[in-house]
Amino acid sequence: MARACGKAILLGEHAVVHGVPALVVGLERGVEAIARRSTDSTSVLYINGGPPILAGDSEIGGAFQALLDACNPGFPVQIELMSTLPIGAGVGSSAAMGVAAVRALATLTGHLISPELEQQRALAWERIFHGNPSGIDTAAASYGGCLRYTRGVGVERISLREPLTFVLGYCGYGSSTRAMVERVAEYQARQPQRFAEQLSAIHELVDSATIALHAGNLLELGHSMDQNQEILTSWGLSTTELDTLRELAKNAGALGTKLTGAGGGGCVIALCDGNPASIVSAWQSAGFSAFTASISP
Ligand code: PMV
Repeated sequence: MARACGKAILLGEHAVVHGVPALVVGLERGVEAIARRSTDSTSVLYINGGPPILAGDSEIGGAFQALLDACNPGFPVQIELMSTLPIGAGVGSSAAMGVAAVRALATLTGHLISPELEQQRALAWERIFHGNPSGIDTAAASYGGCLRYTRGVGVERISLREPLTFVLGYCGYGSSTRAMVERVAEYQARQPQRFAEQLSAIHELVDSATIALHAGNLLELGHSMDQNQEILTSWGLSTTELDTLRELAKNAGALGTKLTGAGGGGCVIALCDGNPASIVSAWQSAGFSAFTASISP
C-alpha cells in the first residue's frame, strides 16, 4: 500500500514547460494505491472501484502499460487506486495516481527506489496524458510541501515563514492538459517575441513570490499570483467560469487569485489571510465546489 499527494501550482504553470521555474504545493488530498500479485496471467487496474482496466486497452490502459514497462515487476499485478482529487481539474490527480502506483509496486516487489527514479517511472504514465509534461506534477506528488521546480534541474524545497492557506474552487468541468499546452505553443508560434517577454515576466514573478514565501509576505505573493493570471488569460487559458470564481473570491477578501494547472477549466486557487470560510461560502453559494488546503512551514 502507498500514497501520493495532489498538487496546486501557485505560479508558473505552462511557463514551466518552457524552462521557467514554477512554485507548487503538495495537497493533503491525494491517491492511495494497493498493489497485489494478480491471481491470473493479466495485469489489471481499478480506479475508485470502477470497472477493470487492462494494460494496453484505451488511453488509460496505455498509461498503465507504460507504467508496468517502466517498473517491470516481473509478474502480473492488480493495482487499486483510490483518489480524493477531482480528475482533470489541475490538481495533479494523474501524477498522484502514477506516483502512488509506482510506490505500491516498489513495496510489493521489495525494491526501495529513490524519489528521482520514482518520478521517472511515474512520468512514463504521465506522458500518455500530457504529451510533454514538465515533471512538476510528479515532483509535487513525490515530495509534497512547498517547492520551486525547474524542468531539467529539479526541486528546491521552500521553507515557509508562515503556514499558507488556500481555497481551491472547481469550475465544474475539466480540460485536456495536452490541448492547453498545445494552445500555448500556438500562441508562441504566432507571437514569439511577446511570448519570450511574457516568459521573462513570469520568471520575475516567480522570483518575487519565492522571496515573499520565505518572508511570509502574503500581500506580495497574492499580487504576483494576480499578475501571473493576466498572462495566462492572454494565452487563452481562462474561461467565464474561472473568471467568475476569481471575482467572487476577490470580493470575499482573497489576497490573490488565479487559475491553477492547465486552465481551460479546472480550478481557481485563492490565497487567503488565515480564514478561508468567506471564500468557501461565496463559491458554494454560487454553486461551485470548494476545498481548503493548508501548507505547514
Ligand atoms: O495537468 P495539470 O492541469 O496539472 O497542469 C500541469 C501543469 C502544466 O504546466 C500546464 C503542464 C506541465 O507539464 O507542467
